[in-house]
Amino acid sequence: MSTPEPVPSSRYPKRGTRTSRKPRFVHPSEEEFARILDFYRIKWVYEPRSFPLRWDGDRVTEMFTPDFYLPGLDLYVELTTMKQSLVTRKNRKLRELRELYPDVNIRLLYRKDYQSLLEKYGYRALTPSTLESIDHVLLSSEEIQAKVEELAGRISADYQGKPVRLVGILKGVAFFMTDLMRRMTVPVSTDYMFITKYTRNGSGPGSVRILKDLDQPIEGEHVLLVEDIVDTGLTLRYILGYLRARKPASLRVCTLLDKRARRLVDVPLDYVAFEIPDEFVVGYGLDHRELYRNLPYICVLKPAAYQE
Ligand code: IMP
Repeated sequence: MSTPEPVPSSRYPKRGTRTSRKPRFVHPSEEEFARILDFYRIKWVYEPRSFPLRWDGDRVTEMFTPDFYLPGLDLYVELTTMKQSLVTRKNRKLRELRELYPDVNIRLLYRKDYQSLLEKYGYRALTPSTLESIDHVLLSSEEIQAKVEELAGRISADYQGKPVRLVGILKGVAFFMTDLMRRMTVPVSTDYMFITKYTRNGSGPGSVRILKDLDQPIEGEHVLLVEDIVDTGLTLRYILGYLRARKPASLRVCTLLDKRARRLVDVPLDYVAFEIPDEFVVGYGLDHRELYRNLPYICVLKPAAYQE
């Protein structure tokens, strides 16, 4: 028998996505799950499809409508309580669904499993106290990866036929630069600098000092400076002056984040992944006191978490 066609759900024809109107949830656990998905900026649709499971001739006698579909993960999710009779019935339906529709990815999820499912797909919160200090996720892992892919394509097209020397500014740039260069299709070599910023008497923008210089000369090279975030622009202005003096064939700038509202000096940005509001962000390489770098998404910290 060929795989039958799922049909749009008629029981709940509305589509609930983060951006559209909230659907009428049947159970409070569904609302809670939707809230968690929203927190991580994971796109979801509520009950978009019904899968026919049994027929009497041409007439469908039993259907199964999973609670959620997560398009970014291509995953259907059915929520369940711990009630054993319910679990047994749902497990039977899931088994039948998988037999009839082998390409459909579906999971039965208990309340206690929400977080571990999301972790499996790369949405980690490290510890409960990390979660406590996060105000909201600004850019999901999915959004970042899609943008990095697009940027790598643009850069590769612009540098066609030319080898590029990527110069990364440590440490925040680590994730971004790695993801960017593995998607670039022109020859790439890398170098890194490590910079520290002074503030004189704890006030004012202060000055910049190089703790680790380039390993290789850049004279005659096509240099693309890669930054995690441009805030006031003072660090970038200093580094650009330093690199220009070393006579590269060309010098461009690529930044993951642009906090334009805080700019004090004008700096040329050739490639910007995201312009962000004036908020303190961490994750995907960015830190606060060396923490949060390994979050796979970029989030805004609650002021209490960085103002102590
Ligand atoms: P600028 O000289 O003011 O442009 O500073 C840029 C540097 O400040 C970045 O390389 C980061 O190290 C740091 N920075 C600025 N804003 C943030 C933020 O929101 N989170 C983490 N680091 C930041």
